[in-house]
Amino acid sequence: MEHNTVAVVGLGKIGLPLAAVFSNNGFYVNGADINKKIVSLVNMGKSHITNEPGLNTLLEKAHQAKTLTATINTVDAVSKSKVVVVIVPVLIDDNNNVNYQFIDSAVYEIAKGIRKGTLVIFETTIPTGDTRNRFGKKIEEISGLKMGNDFYLAYSPERVYSNHILNNLKEYPKIVGGINERSLELASNFYAKALNCKVIKVSNLETAEFTKVAESVYRDVNIALANELAVYADQKGVSMLEVIKAGNSQPFSNLHYPGVGVGGHCIPVYPYFFINRGLANGLIFTARKINDSMSKYAVKLIEKEIGDIKKQNILILGLSFRENVKEVFKSSTLLLVDLIKQKEANIFINDPLYTNLEISSYGVTPLSLEDEMVKNIDIIILQAFHDEYRELKFENFSNCKLIIDGRNVLNKNEIEKLGIEYKGIGN
Ligand SMILES: NC(=O)c1ccc[n+]([C@@H]2O[C@H](COP(=O)([O-])OP(=O)(O)OC[C@H]3O[C@@H](n4cnc5c(N)ncnc54)[C@H](O)[C@@H]3O)[C@@H](O)[C@H]2O)c1
Repeated sequence: MEHNTVAVVGLGKIGLPLAAVFSNNGFYVNGADINKKIVSLVNMGKSHITNEPGLNTLLEKAHQAKTLTATINTVDAVSKSKVVVVIVPVLIDDNNNVNYQFIDSAVYEIAKGIRKGTLVIFETTIPTGDTRNRFGKKIEEISGLKMGNDFYLAYSPERVYSNHILNNLKEYPKIVGGINERSLELASNFYAKALNCKVIKVSNLETAEFTKVAESVYRDVNIALANELAVYADQKGVSMLEVIKAGNSQPFSNLHYPGVGVGGHCIPVYPYFFINRGLANGLIFTARKINDSMSKYAVKLIEKEIGDIKKQNILILGLSFRENVKEVFKSSTLLLVDLIKQKEANIFINDPLYTNLEISSYGVTPLSLEDEMVKNIDIIILQAFHDEYRELKFENFSNCKLIIDGRNVLNKNEIEKLGIEYKGIGN
């Protein structure tokens, strides 16, 4: 087991970029994933991720230098590595309970492969205390090794933003917490070399875990505040966008932007890691409710303008939860679809990142922007502002009466010039 060997467990949207960077910074990476297709692509120097600038080049280089290989055998990858980085998701289920299914099974394999002296670093966002009490204990139980003495244990949250990961990995300081001084030192030295980034050492595992969830909660609560104010500003006939611009002209105000909802598997998910563990009745829970109610508000705006929407043809732009990312988890589009179906309107969805088959699997009709049907669309809701929509020709929607700009990004004047009513959220 060479000193500079790393197992990256989970080669997904975050794990693969991490593996690519480590393997270009002097480390031999043993990637592990349960998905055979991902593993075979990585072993050919290729990526299953299409929207991460710079990633393909790094993978090709690592492939040529033979510094990155992948396997479906996590035990083997771990047993060959001095450092193990875990980046397998923890999700929430339909009732917002924490779902550990994937990571528990990864931890089981890690425990079977671990050797004395290995450093295990968890990067997945998790409820506070899990590194020590759930995963560390499980590894001890199965391996018979003692955490802190026989193997080292650290937590370092992944704070990157899809589409910008390689830059973020260089620019954002890496927050690191350890179970003891030695674990902290080993993990900090590892990141300083493997990512060539600044490291912020915190007092313990729990502080590092808490920090990541706190960052997500901060975003969710501030977006909820912007949403609540936007709805109120609408009532008062005030543009929230103008308020934000004016108000943020001093350093103590950082009003966020309102929108049609918050999706993805980060911001709407991690608040439940606090809510479910003792912070049930506070601001965080209220913020979740407000952000999830914005799709209802968008439908209300439509009804205010159009009246009954039964049989109206409504096109939603973007199935994804946000621009330029292929991810549907908790997308506001799913909430909009549910509401609009109840009102018996006809729903069409366009998203250049998805095939028609993928879109139809959500029980809606896919619509190409070249289709003649665009002439029969009555209402458009912009949910995810993909790059493809920057040049969108709204004049092709010759019968469109109303556009709801769920991201406050479209040109209001040009839309109104076409005789189409424009409504932003708080604008
Ligand atoms: N996606 C983001 O924008 C983002 C940003 C910051 C942090 N994160 C953190 O990164 C975590 C991973 O996110 P992601 O976007 O890479 O997820 P992802 O779904 O793209 O990838 C997860 C990978 O883990 C693999 N996997 C599942 N179970 C496994 C197992 N038992 N053993 C080995 N591999 C297994 C899957 O096959 C998949 O390839 C998130 O849960 C979150 O905590 C994500």
